[in-house]
Amino acid sequence: MAGNWKMYKTAKDTRAYFEKFLPLVKGCSGREIVICPPYPNLEAAVEDTAGTGVHIGAQNLYWGKEGAVTGEVSGPMIHSIGCTHVIIAHSERREYFNESEQDVTRKTKAALEAGLTPIVCVGERLAERESGQTASVLHEQFQDGIGPLAPDEFAKIVIAYEPVWAIGTGKTATPQIAEDAHKTIRNEARQRFGEQLAAAVRILYGGSVKPDNVKSLMAIEEIDGVLVGGASLDPVSFAAIVNY
Ligand code: PGA
Repeated sequence: MAGNWKMYKTAKDTRAYFEKFLPLVKGCSGREIVICPPYPNLEAAVEDTAGTGVHIGAQNLYWGKEGAVTGEVSGPMIHSIGCTHVIIAHSERREYFNESEQDVTRKTKAALEAGLTPIVCVGERLAERESGQTASVLHEQFQDGIGPLAPDEFAKIVIAYEPVWAIGTGKTATPQIAEDAHKTIRNEARQRFGEQLAAAVRILYGGSVKPDNVKSLMAIEEIDGVLVGGASLDPVSFAAIVNY
């Protein structure tokens, strides 16, 4: 159950959030919780969640370890402060920062090398869905972005299916649409990496997940978890999602 705060909350807000959130998920077992705040709040988030089992992740990284790359942050830097995860190629990164499939591969490899679990996002835009291209878009994203990973690298990633038309719009994919897309992705994984790794990879659904629709999404066998934007900003609603 992963929360993506995007560009919201200060360090002070972060502390107030965990004060409320942690007691609400205490004792919750059998599920992994990850929260991805903006870079400046990562350290506060790691401190606040120490010993609670809640993991902290970044929302992006640069593929190099260090260098003259103004404004960027590397995997080893993120790992060194106690983060365990990093989101890769969120559709907002693809859209506003022109991130390509080549970026997906190199960022995923860099994250793994730094000891972070990458949450790699894929998903079609509205026009692509409406013109019947969903499967081919997912095929291309998988083949060109995730496909170049070695099998032992693929074994360590988490995939998030996030249809762009469902992000921040209140239009959740129906359980059927999500199931079909997850099956398409798992099939891509099967063809490239074989049955065993394909069956084991966790695929999260993301796009307008809320406390009132999480249960029907999680009821689908193909859906292993959720990546939540808007509803993860409120500790009560994210705790309700985690405890669905
Ligand atoms: P949303 O965002 O839950 O606000 O739709 C999901 C995401 O962008 O990860």
